[in-house]
Amino acid sequence: MSETELTLIPVDLLLYSGRNPRTEMRSLEELAENIKEYGVLEPIIVRPREEKFEVVVGERRVRASMLAGMKEIPAIIRAITDRQADELRLIENIHREDLTDAEKGDAIYALLENYPDKYLSMASIAEKLTMPYNTILKWCRYSRKVSDFVKDAVGSARLGEDHVGYLMKYDHATQDKLAKVIIERKMTSTQAREFFRLYSGNPEQKLDEIADDVMGIKRVRISLHELSEEARREVQQILAKKKEQTKTIQTDAIKKKMRESRKLTEQRKKEARKRFEQKKAKSEVSLLPEEEERLEKVKEREIGKIIREREKRGEFMQARAELREEKIELPLIPTMDASVMLSRRNVADEKRLNLFEAKDWMIFTKSWFIHNPPPRDEKEELHPAKFPEPLIKNFVEFFTQPTEIVLDPFLGTGSALVACDMSNRQGIGVELEERYADVARRRTKQPVIVGDARNLDELDILKDLKGKIDFAITSPPYWNMLKKSRGHVRSVSKIREELGADVFYGGKMENLENVENYEEYLNALHLIFSKVHKLLRPNRYLVVIIQNILTEDGEMKPVAWDLAKRLNGLFLLKQERIWCQDNKPLGCWGYPYRYVSNVHHHYCLVFEKVEA
Ligand SMILES: C[S@@+](CC[C@H](N)C(=O)[O-])C[C@H]1O[C@@H](n2cnc3c(N)ncnc32)[C@H](O)[C@@H]1O
Repeated sequence: MSETELTLIPVDLLLYSGRNPRTEMRSLEELAENIKEYGVLEPIIVRPREEKFEVVVGERRVRASMLAGMKEIPAIIRAITDRQADELRLIENIHREDLTDAEKGDAIYALLENYPDKYLSMASIAEKLTMPYNTILKWCRYSRKVSDFVKDAVGSARLGEDHVGYLMKYDHATQDKLAKVIIERKMTSTQAREFFRLYSGNPEQKLDEIADDVMGIKRVRISLHELSEEARREVQQILAKKKEQTKTIQTDAIKKKMRESRKLTEQRKKEARKRFEQKKAKSEVSLLPEEEERLEKVKEREIGKIIREREKRGEFMQARAELREEKIELPLIPTMDASVMLSRRNVADEKRLNLFEAKDWMIFTKSWFIHNPPPRDEKEELHPAKFPEPLIKNFVEFFTQPTEIVLDPFLGTGSALVACDMSNRQGIGVELEERYADVARRRTKQPVIVGDARNLDELDILKDLKGKIDFAITSPPYWNMLKKSRGHVRSVSKIREELGADVFYGGKMENLENVENYEEYLNALHLIFSKVHKLLRPNRYLVVIIQNILTEDGEMKPVAWDLAKRLNGLFLLKQERIWCQDNKPLGCWGYPYRYVSNVHHHYCLVFEKVEA
């Protein structure tokens, strides 16, 4: 860093960078009082920006000085780059008294990630900043292990920093639950310690009861029928109100989590872009004449290749354009009429399966792919197991041509129909539960039928489409998996339950998740897919997305393979395309006593209809 200059700068010439971790600054009044009495003891660091100066280090001192009515502040002016300014800010955060340990840990990780050439390890940071290694280690542990809610509560002084050590032993959801009780009950430090002690002794006990014990509140149990008519009504009203309140809080919590996760993804993308730009800038080199010549030769060769590829592609595009000439845009009006759907079906070349180019065809047939679903829309959040639409769109576009008819007999909230909207196909879906069908109807104008898929070929519209459906894609309930705890692990469904979203489909007895016996579940699937078989055109395809499932006893049921065997005679199993998700967090299930797997893939079973 160069051009260092110490001066007094008028505070109204200062600009904030907007890159400080905490906008609301703690103990500002206290600092302002000190400044009134002793002045600003340590100069801030600024750099020239536009006509003014940007505060690089010391934003808190500036705000406190303004609060204290100071018109000028001592400052060191440095001409430094964005990268150097960011680094200085991070180092300052590590020294700031008003930041929590977890926030300091965040700053250390940022140094390690952004400046790996300079800060090699926590030990090297400790050495460079002349701080004890154990302190650095502690902050980093806090940064990684403490939930965002707890960090925020400590930051805003709603929760004492001394509780963090206790909370860190638990996963984030438990940390949040415990911290909320401590905050709501306004517990003192001693009460909170007792609360942790009792909880760790009996984590099954209700938190409200533990809190009552800690705070010396006695509970008396009276059953409702012991109360007078009037008192009973009053209690019931209170309970109903409380339930209503909890529901709203839980919905808000889901929305908040989704907002946070979107924000985080955006931030990560931004950082990745920045890193890429930095790398690119570094790698820009000036070439010697002979190197320039070499580069030109490579360019010429590549351009030749591109021209040849384009010529080939041009022929294909022409063929495809001819096919598409006949294409009609589907009007988005609801129809409950099979003849209308059939009249809209308009395919130029019946022999073709799709309009894919050879290269895309080849890629699709690979037996595995990675797809990480985008964050969910708020109105879809209700459904516990919905498809990502882009993934279904890809299947629909491979197995059909525009205007063809696609069926999903387990429609859920309608993702398959949304995928049809996106790809100009006609879709039709069946869902047992009205509340999911309602969500689907809000998302698409394609026909949604409420009914039991066991009667598929007798339902409205479908009864007139036997042998006329071009493709079926679906995902049935994974037996009773959503209702059971798998291998005694704390699954995503448990977290959803805590947040108030649907954990299982619930509702009607006919729902396949309510079939207790595994063989009966397979029988029901066989019945439903035999109806799909009747509806499909000859030699067309059915894709079933399913998982092998882990039962409560830790046994793996090979649902996918059992289903494939059952459908033998109706369908040929052509492939299991494995859909891998590589952004799901790993759980440390069973450690260190029993093997419990992290299941991060689904099977997309591709079947071809054969004549039964
Ligand atoms: C795995 S989910 C499908 C999710 C859907 N693909 C989506 O993206 O929303 C299975 C759906 O099948 C429904 N279902 C269960 N039993 C059914 C039955 N007998 N007939 C029709 N639908 C049923 C459930 O209510 C649930 O919504």
